[in-house]
Amino acid sequence: MSFDRSVKIAPSILSADFANFGAEIRAIEDQGADWVHVDVMDGHFVPNLTFGPPAVKAFRPHVKTFMDVHLMIAPVDPYIEAYAEAGADMITAHVEAGPHIHRTLQAIKATGKMAGVSLNPGTPLESIEHVLDLVDMVLIMTVNPGFGGQKFIHSGVEKTRRLRAMIGDRPIHIQIDGGVTPETAPLVVEAGADVLVAGSAVFKGGSVDSPEVYGENMRAIRDAVKHLSA
Ligand code: DX5
Ligand code: ZN
Repeated sequence: MSFDRSVKIAPSILSADFANFGAEIRAIEDQGADWVHVDVMDGHFVPNLTFGPPAVKAFRPHVKTFMDVHLMIAPVDPYIEAYAEAGADMITAHVEAGPHIHRTLQAIKATGKMAGVSLNPGTPLESIEHVLDLVDMVLIMTVNPGFGGQKFIHSGVEKTRRLRAMIGDRPIHIQIDGGVTPETAPLVVEAGADVLVAGSAVFKGGSVDSPEVYGENMRAIRDAVKHLSA
């Protein structure tokens, strides 16, 4: 089977109702989410705090698609196993989250999970050149990590284009995270991205009582990119 480069939408539950995660996850999946993106923050690597391994483990039974765990924590190595055991399908770590990104990615692979590496807006593409053969996904941040609802940083578009060329035929997903909307999604999909994280753009205006709004929001993103899709 050839590698799936079709566009996938990964709603970030950072924008969900924090008192109702199980129902929120079911709602976005019922409405067509391809993956569920879980933003883990430590109040140190980024100025915000979110989910420890027990919270992620509690999300797991509700996720029927694919649980994509984005670790914005440093040091990251001591916690990889705990997030793997909590049930992540993909674990993504930032280049700056430990002294040795190569070792971090080896540790993720050793758990049997898929491995992602993330680049902040200021992190050069060259920093991952020598670890590409270890990863299943590269995450390009198009905001500085820490909060939902920030404005898309446009330098990520050219970075995505260069990354796509660097990846060539390798089976590596390109994920974009931060400020993805129906307006910005076509820019990064045209440049080569296939996984779109979206928090506020998916959850805005909806709730578990009006989940069809999540569906409409996701459809607006898909419609905006469908003429570009691989
Ligand atoms: C930011 C997180 C994102 C965030 C995206 O640090 O990694 O996943 O939730 O939110 P929006 O789509 O609202 O920019
Ligand atoms: Zn994220």
